[in-house]
Amino acid sequence: MKVLLTGGAGYIGSHTIIEMCEAGHEVVVVDNFSNSSKKSVERVEQILGKRIPLYEADVADKEAMDRIFAEHAIDAVVHFAGLKAVGESVRKPLEYYENNLISTLVLLRAMEKAGVKKLIFSSSATVYGNPEKCPITEDSPTGNCSNPYGWTKYMIEQILFGYCVAHPEMQVILLRYFNPVGAHKSGRIGEMPNGIPNNLMPYVTQVAVGKLKELSVFGNDYPTPDGTGVRDYIHVVDLARGHVAALQYDKPGAEVFNLGTGVGYSVLDMVHTFSRENGVEVPYRIAPRREGDIAACYADPAKAERVLGWRATHTLSDMVRDSWRWQSQNPNGYEE
Ligand code: NAD
Ligand code: WQD
Repeated sequence: MKVLLTGGAGYIGSHTIIEMCEAGHEVVVVDNFSNSSKKSVERVEQILGKRIPLYEADVADKEAMDRIFAEHAIDAVVHFAGLKAVGESVRKPLEYYENNLISTLVLLRAMEKAGVKKLIFSSSATVYGNPEKCPITEDSPTGNCSNPYGWTKYMIEQILFGYCVAHPEMQVILLRYFNPVGAHKSGRIGEMPNGIPNNLMPYVTQVAVGKLKELSVFGNDYPTPDGTGVRDYIHVVDLARGHVAALQYDKPGAEVFNLGTGVGYSVLDMVHTFSRENGVEVPYRIAPRREGDIAACYADPAKAERVLGWRATHTLSDMVRDSWRWQSQNPNGYEE
């Protein structure tokens, strides 16, 4: 298949280019580089030994999107493009609603015009809000999000459900990612947040590499085995392969899948595994809870295995080793 990846230069997108090409698909990328660098795609090209058609454009730019669909016979779209920083979305809600919602609407129109019927959307476990129970199944209640970023994911899901009612021939797959971490085994691509990281893994790797002094563990009084927050960390390569599996899914309508491992690890599990596997100290201190955080969140990924034949195979040790290889070999990310 020929697949358009919006936001394909980003963390998850760049890994997905590799897995899709290795599975025999052709890939076209569009990205405005608002949170990424062209270098990620250059490095992917080096890893694959082939050129990837790359458009620098905003997905909300109608003419640019029409041109891409006119120049390539696209069979399916994976829509990664979006702003994703939770804290920033609280400070700049309009930017988030504008960017994430409008780009999706423009994309749907461009797909409609070009007759493209398959869409895979990057949703998030954040749509479950504070879950009533774990593991979380796809039919658990959604909404009640705690920040504008989460609401954009929830709203886009609603837009896509409604769109499929009106266009029953569409195949829309909503993938709800849990907590993506890790990096490609080459150590050449990975996650490089701008400024001080919000997420646990990049914070840990930046402490380990000496860029940050110590990790603040946000709360040790949660009702979890060691009191620290529990999450379902999933290796980004497993996640990328989930998209390859979703491409094969051929049923019309909108379908939701959790992409997680089904196993929850605590903040301290993560820190201790990181130190043990990599032989690097990660100084930390216990800090107050972070506003909006929940105690535990992990997936029931059985549906993805049953229906898509996909399951995560990387362990937490794989995740911490691969994250560290990327960080230690590229202390400044894509800036050489
Ligand atoms: P990322 O920021 O690395 O990648 C997103 C890419 O989209 C970036 O390259 C950015 O430049 C691009 N982009 C943003 N708005 C655009 C626009 N209007 N037009 C063109 N390009 C645009 O983030 P990621 O971690 O790779 O996440 C990919 C998707 O998965 C996002 O939609 C994100 O919300 C979702 N998601 C991520 C996580 C996570 O923890 N990383 C978890 C759940 C869901
Ligand atoms: C994980 C755990 C923290 C940083 C966020 C978004 C979610 C999704 C993934 C996109 C929690 C603890 C963290 C630190 C810490 N993104 N922590 N010290 O909050 O589960 O999910 O990213 O869709 O929408 O909300 O991920 O990596 O920020 O936190 O103790 O410096 O690590 O409290 O328990 P989270 P995270």
